Amino acid sequence: MLAASRNHTVRDLATRLPVVRRTVDRFVPGEGVEDALRAVREIKASGRLATIDTLGEDTTTTAAASAATQANITLVRSLADAGLTDVAEVSLKASALGQALPGGAELALENAQRIASAAAEAGTTVTLDAEDHTTTDATHALVDALRHEFAGTGTVLQAMLFRTEADAARFAGPGSRVRLCKGAYAEPASVAHQSPADVRAAFQRCLAVLVAGEGYPMIATHDPAMITAALGQLLVAGRSVDSYEFQMLYGVRPDEQLRLAREGHRVRVYVPYGVDWYGYYMRRLAEKPANLALLGRALVSR
Ligand code: FDA
Repeated sequence: MLAASRNHTVRDLATRLPVVRRTVDRFVPGEGVEDALRAVREIKASGRLATIDTLGEDTTTTAAASAATQANITLVRSLADAGLTDVAEVSLKASALGQALPGGAELALENAQRIASAAAEAGTTVTLDAEDHTTTDATHALVDALRHEFAGTGTVLQAMLFRTEADAARFAGPGSRVRLCKGAYAEPASVAHQSPADVRAAFQRCLAVLVAGEGYPMIATHDPAMITAALGQLLVAGRSVDSYEFQMLYGVRPDEQLRLAREGHRVRVYVPYGVDWYGYYMRRLAEKPANLALLGRALVSR
């Protein structure tokens, strides 16, 4: 599934099938900004927070990177107009902003600065998603540069990468906002843990570094074992409920999201929207075989 997530032929075929589109709805509330705003209003009404991803990645032209930048600026302004910046921020992918193009580091920084500036004006923040390991250094450099001007810029660390414990220590300083997730990309054994048990153990070690630090850990997992372990670590560290948050994906374990929110924890929902849902959707299928079975049943019954 992860190989298919980057295959253009499979993408072109899959995105043309209405039956596939229907199974996508569970994870993506829609293709327009209005769809994202509707989802955020529902999330807000239930006492949760949101981070919104305008879907798109691996941009191949400067024009597409500019369009992605403009789409995010429009999103931020729409959030402000709708009075939702108190609960919603924005997640960005550096590859959507042109990181892989020639001169990409400067281009992605310039584009990210424009979005972060619009976000600051609207009273909210941005977080840079983590993509595959070949981009980690470049994305961290981007976050470092952005944080000079926009201190609230968040970063994402992937526990599966061997390097992440050290990165967690580097990002655990005062004022940092760090989302810790397991990692959604197929990474080689030379750079990443391969077994679920090793990834879980690494997740707990990285989280311990963040929880002991002075920043704001954002614990992004649906895994009951990781949530229990996190609650234990937070309790032992004496962390107050406003000094961390849990994060989960739109459409995944909504009951658990609500349970944690009812118990007084901050819970932020990652809300992706847009036409370019293919790569995101394929990574969700890869995470849970049951999702693939749902798609299979839909295809058979059409
Ligand atoms: P795990 O995959 O073990 O799932 C535990 C349980 O959660 C499953 O048994 C199932 O019940 C439920 N579940 C998990 N995924 C599901 C799915 N797709 N559909 C249905 N049920 C599911 N990765 C990355 O590389 N870069 C990033 O920037 C981000 N950002 C990000 C933000 C947020 C808010 C979250 C929650 C996750 C990410 N991720 C990510 C994805 C992350 O790396 C990881 O791939 C997924 O969260 C799945 O791992 P879990 O920790 O949830 O455990």
